[in-house]
Amino acid sequence: MLVSAKEMLEKARDGKYAVGQFNINNLEWTKTILLTAQEMNSPVILGVSEGAGKYMTGFKTVANMVNGMIECLNITVPVALHLDHGTYDGCYKCIEAGFSSIMFDGSHYPIDENVDKTRELVEVCAGKGLSLEAEVGAIGGEEDGVIGMGECADPDECKRIADLGVTMLAAGIGNIHGKYPANWAGLSFDTLAAIKEKTGDMPLVLHGGTGIPEDMIKKAISLGVAKINVNTECQLAFAAATRKYIEEGKDLEGKGFDPRKLLAPGCEAIRATVKEKMELFGSVNKA
Ligand code: G3H
Ligand code: ZN
Repeated sequence: MLVSAKEMLEKARDGKYAVGQFNINNLEWTKTILLTAQEMNSPVILGVSEGAGKYMTGFKTVANMVNGMIECLNITVPVALHLDHGTYDGCYKCIEAGFSSIMFDGSHYPIDENVDKTRELVEVCAGKGLSLEAEVGAIGGEEDGVIGMGECADPDECKRIADLGVTMLAAGIGNIHGKYPANWAGLSFDTLAAIKEKTGDMPLVLHGGTGIPEDMIKKAISLGVAKINVNTECQLAFAAATRKYIEEGKDLEGKGFDPRKLLAPGCEAIRATVKEKMELFGSVNKA
């Protein structure tokens, strides 16, 4: 059964570890991440961007697929199905489709409008027992057509959103979606500490988890980050393993062209990446 992310994130915050959000794109991604979470005895959040939801023929299909897998694969660790960087309309579609967790990304609105829309969604989600993530200060880089500028969030604006009663808060601290450029300045821990100071117990979310150095991840967790989003790194691992399989001519040997064989090395690479992240984030055996 899908669960809200509230309890798993409060436990993570109190236990000084972070729960990984891994984005899904298809059946293979979903199955691999669920089985890895079960193997690691770790809670997990499956992230679905609006683009990925559309690709998988809609949020209902996604919810049905995930529920079916949880049942048929005997997944017993806590799993939240979470809309990633949702628009206002997208949030309502996912609530309707049976997601257990929602992100409303109002970071591109003026702060008053972000506050108003987030306040409305806090009420709707609370009434249905769903967790809600809000965002202040756009995350840099590009994800699924959503382009962020990589700004550092204003801690006072973070407080305004946190005080609405959201479950978790994503705040820009110099993080960027996708690969980090060589001249990246790193995370702003001063900003993170100031946000923590203003938002108290609020579990904080670190987006753009791909390629952030381990010491920065650990420091971010020590300063209140309880959820870390990883997407690009699984895609890169999947692509590299698939390329290797084809370049070695394995698809031409026997039944190597069967999609179940062709996609297996990529899935194994996702499994290795997710395992490594769960170990780094400290969520292993925290189910
Ligand atoms: O919302 C999803 C993430 O922030 C993923 O970022 O693709 O850089 O790992 P990433
Ligand atoms: Zn993100």
